[in-house]
Amino acid sequence: MNPEKHDFEAVPLGWNRRHLLSLEELSAEEITLILDQAALFKQALVQRRTRLPLLPGKTCVTLFFENSTRTRTSFSLAARRLGADTVDFSAATSSLSKGETFIDTAKNIEAMGIDAVIVRHRTPGAPQLLAANLRCSVLNAGDGAHEHPTQGLLDIMTIRERKGKIEGLTIALVGDIAHSRTARSNIWGLKKLGAQVIVCGPSTLVSPRWAELGVEYSYSLDAILPRVDVLNLLRIQFERQYTRPFPSVREYAHLYAMDRKRLEKTKPDILILAPGPINRGVEVTPDVADGPHSAILEQVTNGVAVRMAALWLLLGPKEKGKLF
Ligand code: NCD
Repeated sequence: MNPEKHDFEAVPLGWNRRHLLSLEELSAEEITLILDQAALFKQALVQRRTRLPLLPGKTCVTLFFENSTRTRTSFSLAARRLGADTVDFSAATSSLSKGETFIDTAKNIEAMGIDAVIVRHRTPGAPQLLAANLRCSVLNAGDGAHEHPTQGLLDIMTIRERKGKIEGLTIALVGDIAHSRTARSNIWGLKKLGAQVIVCGPSTLVSPRWAELGVEYSYSLDAILPRVDVLNLLRIQFERQYTRPFPSVREYAHLYAMDRKRLEKTKPDILILAPGPINRGVEVTPDVADGPHSAILEQVTNGVAVRMAALWLLLGPKEKGKLF
């Protein structure tokens, strides 16, 4: 397919950002621009089942210092579907173990002619540090408990698709709010688009200070169930916790797992999301995770479209009508 000839409308509308670091820094218009672009890409992929070689000659590297299944694969697929090359950098086998600094490693990778670095790191702010030190684009694929912008975008895209809007919806984020980067990105994105957000979980994981971000907080899932339109069930981030936030996983599941009995207390068209990986029986029971209210796998599908949109808007030409 010749990108210059095709009738696909995916032309960036002059988005002049170089990096995607957080949803906190984006405006409602910018978030909507990415979501609209992602919807176009999804439609194109579903209809044509083909690649859209809009970024030939561009190279993206995934620089992951934490485990990942969905995010890394999804970014790689997104880049390839746009005709870009991708390289996976494995932190475990790199010269970091020989004492090279994070920035030196990244600068060396960039010196090989990279257009975008997609980074996941356990330290909040690591992508911002790279953005300040590299000339190429930096995309945050999760920095500690800070932000995970493409996860927030794909969650919001899935809600918008299923509900037809974001404004006016009541959306609950349930679980380990304290350690969740997904929660922070969702809060920024959803609030900017006019949703009401409730954070819900045990008091050890949900501080009243969340109210400062303009969200409501609750310690009781049962109390909020009847009034929510969407539930986003977040994993307990054991790997980020230094103390035990509740007596047992069984007790947590008793109070917060979304199961069939709790489903009876919700609105009939409740939408259930989970960023994955899901721990079946902890935050959600298998019958609900695989049931008709769940959009968990659709989120994964939308993840590829959202990441294609982000890469295209950051790396594509900035002038409308001029592809290359
Ligand atoms: C999330 C992450 O890594 O922050 N997962 C993901 O990107 N698919 C959430 C999680 O690990 O629970």
